[in-house]
Amino acid sequence: MAPQPNLQQNDRFRIHGGARLVGEVHVGGAKNSVLKLMAAALLAEGKSTIANVPAIADVEIMSDLLRRLGCTVIHEGSLLSIDVPKTPMHRADYDLVRKMRASINVLGPLVARIGRAEVALPGGDAIGSRGLDFHIKGLESLGALAHVEHGYVIAEAPNGLTGADIALDFPSVGATENLMTAAVLAQGVTTIENAAREPDLVDLGEFLISMGAKIEGLGSPVITITGVKELRPAHHVTVTDRIIAGTWAFAAAMTQGDITIHGARADHMEVMLEKLASAGAIITSTSDGVRVKMEQRPTAVDVATLPYPGFATDLLPFIIAMNSIADGDSLVTENVFESRFMFVNELSRLGAQVHVDGHHASIHGITELSGAPVEATDIRAGAGLVLAALVADGVTTVDGAFHVDRGYPEFAEQLRALGADVTRE
Ligand code: UD1
Repeated sequence: MAPQPNLQQNDRFRIHGGARLVGEVHVGGAKNSVLKLMAAALLAEGKSTIANVPAIADVEIMSDLLRRLGCTVIHEGSLLSIDVPKTPMHRADYDLVRKMRASINVLGPLVARIGRAEVALPGGDAIGSRGLDFHIKGLESLGALAHVEHGYVIAEAPNGLTGADIALDFPSVGATENLMTAAVLAQGVTTIENAAREPDLVDLGEFLISMGAKIEGLGSPVITITGVKELRPAHHVTVTDRIIAGTWAFAAAMTQGDITIHGARADHMEVMLEKLASAGAIITSTSDGVRVKMEQRPTAVDVATLPYPGFATDLLPFIIAMNSIADGDSLVTENVFESRFMFVNELSRLGAQVHVDGHHASIHGITELSGAPVEATDIRAGAGLVLAALVADGVTTVDGAFHVDRGYPEFAEQLRALGADVTRE
């Protein structure tokens, strides 16, 4: 059996601030990659295996969703096997989909493989409107009939899909993934312009290639896919989670600590590491990762989030938390999800001086935050509040630990191993 993530809905973290985090952490596979790899396994009949799977709640939810579609999913340690039937079911129900945005990723594979998909409109994090119009329009360009009815996206292509030229208005990660996983089985050539370039998307593309797909341009803004008749099951090792690696890098910088992050891919974290270096961190490459050390109070840095290779929106809570105790004033601009700033209300309860105007946050750094009860509103906001609590005077409780469980395996245990005073209650 795989390590079971803790799913207690009313758990909270209790943090006594003040520790300097020092030591080593190991970062496993990326949530935002593994969930998409799991959905893509639907594209081939038979048993695909995925390694370096993190022990997070979302993997369990996606496993349940795939079982509901007729697959046999076995999880042993960090290895997952997914045995896909000849004809999977086509309906992803609301009760599972509402828990996790990535459920929408079964849409492309199901339409491509069996000509029909019904997927409940997803839930996931409360960080913005997160439309599906690019997914739907793109599938229509590939010849599917797609519409939203009674809370479900319904897409049909009884005679298969046909390659097309698709240009996205914004390099949406989810839309690029759904269209790429649909186009691999379409007849003819598809180009996706203004495609997302995230390492997670490249990871998915590489898995598809090992299943027999023909894809060029991964990691660039134009992806070209030549459809094939069928795909075969494959084995894939999930790419390292750059957001978790980034979380540890910020933890080191904020607590004036020294953390060696094994498994971190510096090449996937360039802009973020540059920002931390500007804040005063000393960053060195190690044989299998990155070491981040901070010997002084961080200096405030301005940041604007952007699609990859820009500064990731998922890291927004961490940069705001760091700037709130940094030396100086800063401006942080969110360009991807309009509601990520919900987190700021909670951070303010710890005394942070942040003023939000539209999609800009101006932050006046103070020397220390002050412990208080706060609540996580999404995965990254939850982790960001825990980091803020590490540099707060006294005790902070962070309600809604289950949000953090969705993305961070054994977060409290790992923090404790680095010297933090963190418990779960
Ligand atoms: C994924 C990640 C999320 C990350 C984000 C950006 C998952 C489950 N989530 O989210 O953690 O923060 O990438 O790197 O992998 N949009 C539309 N119409 C669409 C699709 C998107 O308007 O059809 C907009 C969204 O509202 C948002 C922006 O495009 O403003 C980016 O969304 P997208 O890249 O699709 O994010 P997700 O794939 O949902």
